[in-house]
Amino acid sequence: MVIKNNGIKKLPLLEINNLITYYGLIQILKEISLRVEEGEIVCLLGSNGAGKSTTMKSILGLVRAHSGEINFRGQRIDNLSAAQIVAAGIATVPESRRIFPRLSVEENLQIGAYIHKASLPSLQPQIEQIYNLFPRLKERRRQAGGTLSGGEQQMLAIGRALMAKPKLLLMDEPSMGLSPALVDKIFEIIQQINRSGTAILLVEQNAHMALSIARRGYVLQTGSLVAHGTGDELLHSEEIRSAYLGE
Ligand SMILES: Nc1ncnc2c1ncn2[C@@H]1O[C@H](COP(=O)(O)OP(=O)(O)O)[C@@H](O)[C@H]1O
Ligand SMILES: [Mg+2]
Repeated sequence: MVIKNNGIKKLPLLEINNLITYYGLIQILKEISLRVEEGEIVCLLGSNGAGKSTTMKSILGLVRAHSGEINFRGQRIDNLSAAQIVAAGIATVPESRRIFPRLSVEENLQIGAYIHKASLPSLQPQIEQIYNLFPRLKERRRQAGGTLSGGEQQMLAIGRALMAKPKLLLMDEPSMGLSPALVDKIFEIIQQINRSGTAILLVEQNAHMALSIARRGYVLQTGSLVAHGTGDELLHSEEIRSAYLGE
């Protein structure tokens, strides 16, 4: 008797194999392999200059891979344009936030959904969901993005990314420059987004907080992955803590 699905391995949502990325003549990423399963929070840790943002940009097609493969939902994406990659279901909250300072909060959110080519009125229910997540943005909906505080701009960058309805959200140091109270809030929101079915690849300097919410983590050092494990394993490994997590 043939049992359906027996022995068939489920494909990871995101799978990177032996990724090498250069800036000019300088090799930045040295054969990186990692994966994110459906519904997971995975964090990517490492000190400044380790190559975390370069990994994110490679996934997003903003920097071309020199060699290796990036697969998303079983499809090769390392040869696609950045717009095609967003359309495939990957959105980003970039390190620099990059909101549009002259556009209103609401217009910034609308732009996040551009790949769906929906009419503005049809986007309204989704925008209301973002406002439920961030009531502060609703209060400021008509204000120019550039007049928001750092924390509010981070909320807007997250809201805009969610407007694309991603299967995978890449977040590059979302807690950077925020007060401790806001950092807590952002981490709560990350978990809330994840519970609603979005997988998250989270780059963080704040290793402790990231590992406390992530199922698994990878540690990057000068372009090479040097450690990998569950959140618990990485948090409780003396060796990893002293060598890579700055303790
Ligand atoms: N546009 C660029 N051109 C040349 N080198 C770069 C560029 N961006 C980053 N780098 C270099 O690549 C390395 C990795 O940077 P990055 O991925 O930003 O690290 P991280 O995000 O972990 O701090 C660093 O040595 C950095 O100086
Ligand atoms: Mg970075």
